[in-house]
This record gives sequence, structure tokens and C-alpha cells, in this order.
Amino acid sequence: MAGIPSEFIDQLIDRIDIVDVISPRVNLKKAGKDYQALCPFHTENTPSFTVSHSKQFYHCFGCGKHGSAIGFLMEFEGMDFVDCVETLAQSAGLEVPNHGKFQNHSKGLFEIVEQANRYFVNAYTQSDFARNYMQNRGISAQTCQTFQVGFAPDSWDGLMKRLQHTAQDDLLKAGLIVHNDNGKVYDKFRARVMFPIQDKRGRVIAFGGRAISDDQKPKYLNSPETPLFHKGKELYGLNIARKHSNEKSIIVVEGYMDVIALHNAGIKNSVATLGTATSQDHIVTLLRSYDEIIFSFDGDKAGREAAWKALKTSLPVYRDDKNIKFLFLPEKHDPDTYVKQHGQGAFIEQINSAMSLSQFLLKRLSHKIDLTSIDGRARYIDNSRSFINELPNGQFRKLLLEEISSLTKTKVDFKEKVKVNKIQSIDQWTPIRKAIAILINAPNLVHVFSENQNLNQIKQNGIKILTEIVAFCRLNPHITTAVLIENFREHDAYSHLCALATVSLSLNREQMLLELEDIRKHFDKSVQKNKINSLRLKQTEQGLSQPEKLELVELLSQQLK
Ligand code: UTP
Ligand code: MN
Repeated sequence: MAGIPSEFIDQLIDRIDIVDVISPRVNLKKAGKDYQALCPFHTENTPSFTVSHSKQFYHCFGCGKHGSAIGFLMEFEGMDFVDCVETLAQSAGLEVPNHGKFQNHSKGLFEIVEQANRYFVNAYTQSDFARNYMQNRGISAQTCQTFQVGFAPDSWDGLMKRLQHTAQDDLLKAGLIVHNDNGKVYDKFRARVMFPIQDKRGRVIAFGGRAISDDQKPKYLNSPETPLFHKGKELYGLNIARKHSNEKSIIVVEGYMDVIALHNAGIKNSVATLGTATSQDHIVTLLRSYDEIIFSFDGDKAGREAAWKALKTSLPVYRDDKNIKFLFLPEKHDPDTYVKQHGQGAFIEQINSAMSLSQFLLKRLSHKIDLTSIDGRARYIDNSRSFINELPNGQFRKLLLEEISSLTKTKVDFKEKVKVNKIQSIDQWTPIRKAIAILINAPNLVHVFSENQNLNQIKQNGIKILTEIVAFCRLNPHITTAVLIENFREHDAYSHLCALATVSLSLNREQMLLELEDIRKHFDKSVQKNKINSLRLKQTEQGLSQPEKLELVELLSQQLK
């Protein structure tokens, strides 16, 4: 498993408590033996996210997400397996055994991009021109340092020369060089002020480069999609905002310079989308760590359209416990120019009077509609239908409907979304599936199976994985569900095992034991039956030896018991 010994993973899962890992990130409430919360992975208004302390496993009954503490971190922080193990090990005071991390390809790319960043930052300190550019835009040296502003000199191969020991393929993959139709390669970023884009952990993954003269096109040149960089996922400045601000609200702006200028003016809780529209991924990520999102786009028509688009994207992931607002700056302003001209206080005032999502939605819906006419009201109701239906069920949806009803003097009630709830009855399951589910839930019941249990003589689907689980539990009878599951992460059946781990068996320990004993008897019988059949076959085909005859009699008599 990525070179990390599985014993270490066992030890790690054993050492940490999944409740400690999840509780700083999700508001858990104790509910019986377990903990519950609103699921961080989908939108809901009643909690179906459950964390089991005894199993060391989480599961959402709403969206079906589930896993161990490692799986949770991977999902929640968007980190890869090795990163999660390292993060958890650090918090548990364990050292991850050497696992050839730097052979891992994407780690290699991180290193390359970081080297490029150092080259740009160094060139920036050497370039009066670049530093003057930022200074003329009113940005302090301190702020430039915080954002690691750099400079790509006007050269076709400055970076390539600096990274001459790096394979060209890797430079291409990192998006740092490009080639023309003749196959000639050269630096992608030339004569530009460079803004490094960091991931959530502060590692540089990509760049945006701003032209330094008006005739240079495009104004901003961005890294392409690379293995490290996915535009629709990343937000410029998120890592810096988290580090420098404790605000529970986050301002989403359009440009690199907006984030930098706001920070420079003391407003340190802003991020920018990267030349793309705001995605649902962005919104979900931000709502996990912030209570409020304030979209602040440019005060022109394009900015208003971007805001409207952001509203539409927000609807399906809207949560009653969060706020989404829209700030419309005066025409011809973006956050950068506004804060520069009017100062921090004026910008904060603008934030405080931002429009709520519902205000914006209702206002937009009534655009050019005459609510005093019946036609107008009908059109209004019709227009609002698709928007309301995007919203998850809950208080906000209800209040909006009431508002629309009152505006149109009509009782408006669109049908609520229907939740599909699967009810699992294990009675219908095959004995093998039941046995696996019980062992995953209570590994130490493995003692029901004897050491020489002839599981391999059973010919049924799933017997192979059951045999592996029995063998593993026999060696480690005191593990939790999470340890067991993590040991099968690379197994074809991993997702099935996770699904079984999340099933609430509604059996107590005693009942599980009885059930498992029944299953063992069933297996014993099935092994006997196979044996009897093969002895009988031999009897008719070639006759049996004396010991075989005795065995058959013995088996037949056992069957009567
Ligand atoms: P703007 O054109 O609003 O630029 O682009 P800006 O942020 O105000 O830039 P300055 O103040 O002139 O320096 C907003 C964002 O759109 C993306 C960039 O991410 C930019 O920050 N963009 C813009 C591009 O990707 N390419 C472009 O050519 C222009
Ligand atoms: Mn600008």
C-alpha cells in the first residue's frame, strides 16, 4: 500500500480515535453509543452522518460515504492516502516508516513546481521593474512576500536552464514549459509577474502570470490542468486566508489582485476562483470551514452575471445553518480598485450590507415582471419553480416558498424531493455475506471458526474473501472494524467490505455469536455434503477402500444429527 507497511497502518488506526479526527471538522453530537452530525459531504437538514466509536468507522446514511479516519481525511481534505497517513501519524506522535515517498511521482512534481517558484521569487527580488509594478499597484513588500509574488524574466529558457537536471517530460507535465508545432520547447511564463497558487496545505501547485505591458496577451496566463492542479477545485489564497484570519466568513472574488489588495488592506479572508466560474466543489469546500460566503464580483455586467451563476451553483448545496451573500460594488470597480480608493472601512461596510441569497434570487426573478397582474404573478411562479426545486428540503426552502406565496398572493407549494431510504434486511443474505458482515462488525467473534475450518472446500461466491478475513482476524482478534477494513484497502472487494461495515446489523453481541455459530454449522454441513457426494460418486465409479467406506458411514451418521 504505497509502500507503507500494513502493520504501521494497523498501529496508526489503533492509536488515533476517529472521533478526535472528525470532531474538529464536523460538529458531532453524542447519540447513544455513536455520534451524529449533519453530513459534510452532502446537503441535509437532519443528521444522517454517524461516527461509531467502537468500530472506528463513519458512515452517512444519506449519501452513503463511509470509511475509517484515514478515509475521512482523504474525503474531507481532498488529500491522498499517503498524505493522510502522514498527517495522522504526526498528530499521534508516530513516525511513518520510510516508504520511498520521493519515488512517488506526484511528490516529484511538487518538488519541481516548488523549484520553479523559488526561481520566480528570486527573479522578483532581482527585478526593480517587477517590484515597482507591485509597488505602483499599492501592494506592500510584506504582502508580496506573504503571497510569494514572483517574476518570470523575459527569456525563452531561463527556467529550463535553472531546472536543467529535470526531465523535460516532467516540466511539461508540471505545465512550466510548452512546445510549438516544430517541437521546440520553451518557458511558458515570460515577462510576467507571477502569482503562485497553493493547495490547502500550502504547497505550490500552479501559477498565474500577469502581463506587465498592455500589448501582452493574454492579460493573465495560467498553468494548464496538471496532475497537481485542477482549476475547478482550487481557490487562490485559501491557504493564506486560513493562516492569517479567524473570520467565520469568506469573501469570494474574481481575481488574484483582488485577493492580494484586500489582504494588503487588512481584509485577509478572501479567495479567488481561478479564471473559472465558481464550482459546486468550491462552495462545498468553503462551507465546510466557513459559516458564510460573500461573493464579491466586479461591478460590471459580467460581474453580475458571474454572481447570478454562482447563485445557481449554490442552490443544490445550500444549507440552513450557513449564509450565502452577494456584494455588488459600484460600476467600474472591482474589490482591488474599491478598497484602494475607499479604504478598508468602506469595503467592510459594503460587506455588511451585502444582499442575501434569497433577496438576490427574488429580485432577479421579479425582473421585468409586473406582480400586480395575474399574468405577471403566474410567470413569476413559473420562473421560480426550477430554482426552488434545486434547493434541498428544509427551512430555507420553506421560507422562500412562503415569500413567493405572499408576493404572488397564491399558495405556492412545489413538491418536496423524495428521499430514498434503503432498508437492509440481513435475513435475505447468503451465509457468507452474513458471516463477513458479522466479522467486520465484531472481529473477535472469529473464534467461532476453528483453526482447521475447511472453508476452502466450500464452493460459493465470496468464500475467498471470507477465508482471508477469518485468517486475518484469527491473527489479530482484538482489532477494530477500521483496522480490518484498512487492511483490505487494496482488495477488489474493498468497497463491498466498507458497505458491510456500515450496515447496522441490529443484533447484539450474543445474537451475532449465535448467528455466526449457525453459519459455521451450515458451512460444516455443506463441507460434509460435498464430501459425501464425492465419496458416493467414487463408490459408483470405482468402489471405495475400507477406510473410505468407514468415513462415508461416519459422515452420513453425522448428517442425521
Ligand atoms: P480581470 O480581468 O477582472 O482582472 O480578471 P483583474 O483581476 O482585475 O486584474 P488586474 O487588476 O488588471 O491585474 C479576473 C481574473 O480572471 C482571470 C484571472 O484569474 C484574473 O485574476 N483571467 C483574466 C485570466 O485567467 N486570463 C485573462 O486573460 C484575464
Ligand atoms: Mn483588477
